[in-house]
Amino acid sequence: MFPGPLGASLAGRALAAGIWELEARDIRDSATDRHRSVDDTPAGGGPGMVLRADILAAAIDAAAPAPGRPRLLMSPRGRPLTQLRVAGLAAGPGPLIVCGRFEGVDQRVIEARGLEEVSIGDYVLSGGEIAAMALLDACVRLLPGVMGRLESGADESFSAGLLEYPQYTRPQLFEGRPIPEVLLSGDHARVAAWRRAEAEALTRERRPDLWAEHGHRAGGQKAPKDTTGR
Ligand code: ADE
Repeated sequence: MFPGPLGASLAGRALAAGIWELEARDIRDSATDRHRSVDDTPAGGGPGMVLRADILAAAIDAAAPAPGRPRLLMSPRGRPLTQLRVAGLAAGPGPLIVCGRFEGVDQRVIEARGLEEVSIGDYVLSGGEIAAMALLDACVRLLPGVMGRLESGADESFSAGLLEYPQYTRPQLFEGRPIPEVLLSGDHARVAAWRRAEAEALTRERRPDLWAEHGHRAGGQKAPKDTTGR
């Protein structure tokens, strides 16, 4: 499945340029029987199959992750991924990421190999690979030399704790809808104030959780939190 979409576009060009590297491993290579099986039935009964602790531990050990490298397990049970965590991962040595399939992973390998469970949202995918790709894509675009302009990452959704303001480009009139007049005024201060107000209104309406988290509770105008992740 890898690099899959990470081999195209922005991430793909950065991969080809050696800005980041990907070493995909098949857990089946660490299986010990001739069927190369990696899973077994859950202790205590129940549906589905569970990834075996011994096989997964052997696969992790074979990857020989350097000490200090984050070891992540993509799982809907994990702590939700945030832009702050993404920025922290992008600034570090690069994670080892375990992608589970099946019903789950034997709890003992999670503990024994210090895996940190990470979720990309409150829904269930059929495996961790697509979740890992989402995490990697979010990290790679923050690496130096990947995005065209340095500031293209600074203003966007989440970096300032607000959703992004609406964008417009030509044509000036689209199906009877004009570009908001302020954006054509050339008045940079007015444009900035308009964008800020739009971003705040969108965030309040769509993401009251973000709005509250960033200190915008009733009347409050607290300083935004550090969102650099360093
Ligand atoms: N694997 C399956 N569902 C997932 C999710 N929502 N996040 C991360 N990994 C997953």
